[in-house]
Amino acid sequence: MSDPAPGGDDPDTDYAAPTDPVSTGLLPLTSAIGPDGRLSVGGVDVLDLAVEYGTPLFVYDEAHLRARCREAVEAWGDGVAYATKAFLCVAMARLAHEEGMALDVSTGGELHVALTAGVPADRLVLHGNNKSEEELAAALDAGVGRIVIDSFDEIDRIERLAGVAGGRGGAVTRPRVLARITPGVEVHTHEFVRTGQEDSKFGFGLASGAAALAVGRLSALDAAGVVEFVGIHAHLGSQVFALAPFAQAIDVLAGFFAPLDLAELVVGGGLGVAYVNGEEAPPMAQWAASVRQACRQAGIGPSVRVTAEPGRSIVASAAMTLYTVGTVKDVTDHRTYVAVDGGMSDNPRPVLYGSGYEAFLPRETPSVRPRAVRVVGKHCESGDVVVADAYVPADLEVGDVLATPVTGAYGHSMASNYNKVPRPAVVFVADGEARTVVRRETFEDLVRLDV
Ligand code: LLP
Repeated sequence: MSDPAPGGDDPDTDYAAPTDPVSTGLLPLTSAIGPDGRLSVGGVDVLDLAVEYGTPLFVYDEAHLRARCREAVEAWGDGVAYATKAFLCVAMARLAHEEGMALDVSTGGELHVALTAGVPADRLVLHGNNKSEEELAAALDAGVGRIVIDSFDEIDRIERLAGVAGGRGGAVTRPRVLARITPGVEVHTHEFVRTGQEDSKFGFGLASGAAALAVGRLSALDAAGVVEFVGIHAHLGSQVFALAPFAQAIDVLAGFFAPLDLAELVVGGGLGVAYVNGEEAPPMAQWAASVRQACRQAGIGPSVRVTAEPGRSIVASAAMTLYTVGTVKDVTDHRTYVAVDGGMSDNPRPVLYGSGYEAFLPRETPSVRPRAVRVVGKHCESGDVVVADAYVPADLEVGDVLATPVTGAYGHSMASNYNKVPRPAVVFVADGEARTVVRRETFEDLVRLDV
């Protein structure tokens, strides 16, 4: 699903050859390559991690995660929320909170994990296009900071529930709410992750008049003291490289937003990341600056809190996945298949969106990769592809640890047990130490729910 690299039409752009070594820009921040070519992250040798924890394994660079969270807070200010759908476990929720981010949760499950991690409820923003009564009640009882309202049915629900939350002893009797608007701005990304267009299951369309109706109802509920209607939210899509659509969305929203005299405007997430050699994504600060400038130009004053919900751009390149090569099969006149011990169960993105990744051998990180292969998983279908067109060192062999970088977002969070493959462990590395933050599933776990 990777977009063309910015500057793709520029004849002066230097393109990396696919056989070049993996670009160090795709590796976690604290990556270091020893004189023997071996890769360490967070001061820990990656091949030692594979031995100690087994494969497949998600390895996250904790310093990288912290740096990205700080960058987000610096760029956007207080209120910027980490979109937990990109990668969530108790340790990640704690880390994002410690680094000053709020957390965006979009289901009762994500809410539960964030609360279990000890994140104060008022630092949470609840999303979702179909929040159940139970999810809304749980959010009100816990005292979530904000609820982003997505539909007229939800307005009915919140009206019923907010009125009685106090009676149940809930923490929030008058929830702060935002209305999610689809501004009709389309972004150039995979259609499955485009959300800002009018024809969407998310939010209230601007062009249809639904947004105006929703805002009318929420303003009335505010006046009646049922909710506190604080702002407008719009999320355009994910893995967006161009900043112009964000500015365009502000432009479109400004005329609607200004007369409402609301305090908050949230542009959602969506900042793209580089997945493969030669790609380049805008930095977080530039994203925030371009949105702010668009706000100024559209007459949105400095008293309005303009913020965002980055997910992928916080976690994607902080992690890599380690696999072990199990079989190498040459199909004469066609291709070579390199099969690893994971696949679509730990990274469904290639199957879902045709996403591209790099593959390299951490035992010889800076090696050229002259050998064209297809990296596949161990699942029972031909679509189970990890890297469709991978280039690997000539001497790759069975038993090698193969790494795919930039797998920190929407990999572990979308992992499954397909073919009853246990989900991988997740380790955080920092300062020469590794710690398990999510243990590997066992075969016993696979029958845990059977009754
Ligand atoms: N806010 C809202 C309301 C969202 O729906 C999303 C992502 C985000 C923030 C965070 O977007 P990010 O910064 O991560 O792009 N599974 C897909 C991505 C789905 C994104 C869904 N919503 C993938 O693997 O590419």
